Amino acid sequence: MSVPSTPLVGESLGRATILLVDSVEINRQLLKGILKAGPFRLLEARQPSDAFAILDREHVDLIIADLMLPEVGGSMDGGLDFCRRLKAHRRTRLIPILILTSVQGIDNEVAGLESGADEFLIKPLQPAVVRTRVRTMLRNKRTIDSLEEAETILFALAQTVEQRDQETGNHCQRLAALSVALGTALGLPEEDLVALYRGGYLHDIGKIAIPDAILFKRGVLNEEEWAIMRSHTWKGEEICHRMRSLAPVLPIIRNHHEKWDGTGYPDSLAGEQIPLMARILQLADIYDALTSRRSYKSAYTPEEAVAMIQKEAGMGWRDPELVSVFVEMVREPNFVARSAALFAPTGDQPAEDAELQSMRESLARMSREVLK
Ligand SMILES: [Fe+2]
Repeated sequence: MSVPSTPLVGESLGRATILLVDSVEINRQLLKGILKAGPFRLLEARQPSDAFAILDREHVDLIIADLMLPEVGGSMDGGLDFCRRLKAHRRTRLIPILILTSVQGIDNEVAGLESGADEFLIKPLQPAVVRTRVRTMLRNKRTIDSLEEAETILFALAQTVEQRDQETGNHCQRLAALSVALGTALGLPEEDLVALYRGGYLHDIGKIAIPDAILFKRGVLNEEEWAIMRSHTWKGEEICHRMRSLAPVLPIIRNHHEKWDGTGYPDSLAGEQIPLMARILQLADIYDALTSRRSYKSAYTPEEAVAMIQKEAGMGWRDPELVSVFVEMVREPNFVARSAALFAPTGDQPAEDAELQSMRESLARMSREVLK
């Protein structure tokens, strides 16, 4: 993606917040002197733990850290470890990091870049070089921020779609949790779980393009109306496809109405041609729809829902192996209690259930990211 050509003047960057992390006060003073001409808000931390405390409560646009940070015994690893920790958390991973070091050598630079640092500057610092580098990094950050905002708007839009149908309640939230639970049962990696979680919210975003008269029609849809209804899959993909960060979610959005025997839509994919994530979300979607009360039907019990899903697998519509794992999961004696606990206020879940605790924390984190 090309970066918009903003002039390299401080004023164009607004009042960006820069966090300086250095255990040596004179170094921080020096940096403050170099950056004082810019319209920057400068925050200071002596060590990574102070920096994380600031990052918890402040919006930071750029971090400038010394490679030699005191944690981990003042060794060089202090700065690298700090970078790794910043990049490991979604909340801080998009904040650009400029590492300052007096240690020359390509090995250090490679180690730093591998740990997640975005740029390196070798001391002694040249003020003009520091300022130019800082402005370039802030300009790139601004571009990233605008993408993040666009993503947030999409999630808000998806919830609006969901709220058009008053009956579905917290369907997105339940669907996200159920899909992540099945993904976890299958041992999928975290990036797949995040895609499933997002898919829970975004899978039906294409319904924004479907008129209410069709979306909420009580009678049977005619041929033409069905064609419009089916288009919510590819229209949803069209809405989201420009956003690179949503690439893993696109197969879920497009293919969550395929059937195992190839009679689904929009691509009539069959068997394992259907992306696994789309199959997972589809099972969760069906189960949640069946076990939820609607004005035209009462809620089925979990066992009734399981029997209906198994029947559909017998008819060739659903992935039989996936259905087995799903059924095993929902039949776990404490599944319902665990599902409820996923949405319970913090502290209400049994402390000894480490797996539940961990899933709950993951869901809470993903939820914060999706709904921020
Ligand atoms: Fe759908």
